[in-house]
Amino acid sequence: METISRPASMERITTPALAKKFIEEQLAALKAQIGSDKVLLALSGGVDSSVTAALLIRAIGKNLVCVHVNHGLLRKGEPEQVIRVFRDEMKANLIYVDATDRFLDKLAGVSDPETKRKIIGKEFIEVFAEEARKLDGIRFLAQGTIWPDILESEAGIKAHHNAGGLPDDLAFELVEPVRILFKDEVRMVGHELGLPDSMVYRQPFPGPGLGVRCVGAITRDRLEAVRESDAILREEFAKNGLEGKVWQYFTVVPDFKSTGISDGKRTWDWPCIIRAVNTVDAVTAEVAEIPFSLLKQIAYRITHEVKGINRCLFDCSDKPTGTIEYE
Ligand code: XMP
Repeated sequence: METISRPASMERITTPALAKKFIEEQLAALKAQIGSDKVLLALSGGVDSSVTAALLIRAIGKNLVCVHVNHGLLRKGEPEQVIRVFRDEMKANLIYVDATDRFLDKLAGVSDPETKRKIIGKEFIEVFAEEARKLDGIRFLAQGTIWPDILESEAGIKAHHNAGGLPDDLAFELVEPVRILFKDEVRMVGHELGLPDSMVYRQPFPGPGLGVRCVGAITRDRLEAVRESDAILREEFAKNGLEGKVWQYFTVVPDFKSTGISDGKRTWDWPCIIRAVNTVDAVTAEVAEIPFSLLKQIAYRITHEVKGINRCLFDCSDKPTGTIEYE
């Protein structure tokens, strides 16, 4: 495993010119490291893996094999965007795996949050490993590790997502082209590489995806309510100038029902909780102040457009005491 560190003297990449210089240096380094060998990458569509993919596509073209695993817990439009940007526009060698049924079947009836997370993580590695075994001649595994991941794993805060999770028969050498960059620098480089803003400036999204926002045992209908309400929230925040201003915002649908009324008839449906927070480092967070008129408008849309929702609530809690995610 390479042990490249960020040089203390390295200038922070804050301009397009500096991003361009980094890209040129990386392309030369990647070509030298990889030669004519093949590289595999798990492409989630998140900022780090997308920028890693875009750099490698420039450096080695079709010798990069991207695998996009749809675990069924992605946000509305995300798998389609990955396919459009990488396969259609960047002409990447992209394998798309729709593993929705596999994940949801394994998660059926599981309500414990940590067990849910473990199932999603384990299943992800299994699906990815199965795809890797179908391929011949792969020498390298690319990862979107970034500098804060290294610092946090050195400080013992979190184990950074490395190849350690893959079974022993898949012993690849690592390629980590954005390893020495901070998040804002990764975004600069992604922008310079031509990735769309909606990908480069994406708000944080957890690996277990909507699964941790469909509180309790996941059912397909409630998961759909999370996905549809999240799409409405994002659309309204974008339309009303809050995109990029509020750090993270999403919806949660808990596993309980209450009485409501619709078209003169009694309903027995779920509530939808809106969570919107501001933070610097996600260690603590403050509830974001959203204009009440906008909240009412979003609540109206969610309760009228999303099947199975009859109420909308706004979460006023800071972190602590509430974590940002619900599970
Ligand atoms: P919490 O809920 O701990 O979340 O206050 C802090 C930040 O981390 C994100 N988060 C995750 N990100 N994998 C990730 O990549 C995960 O499993 C995960 N869980 C939480 C969360 O969205 C928030 O930005």
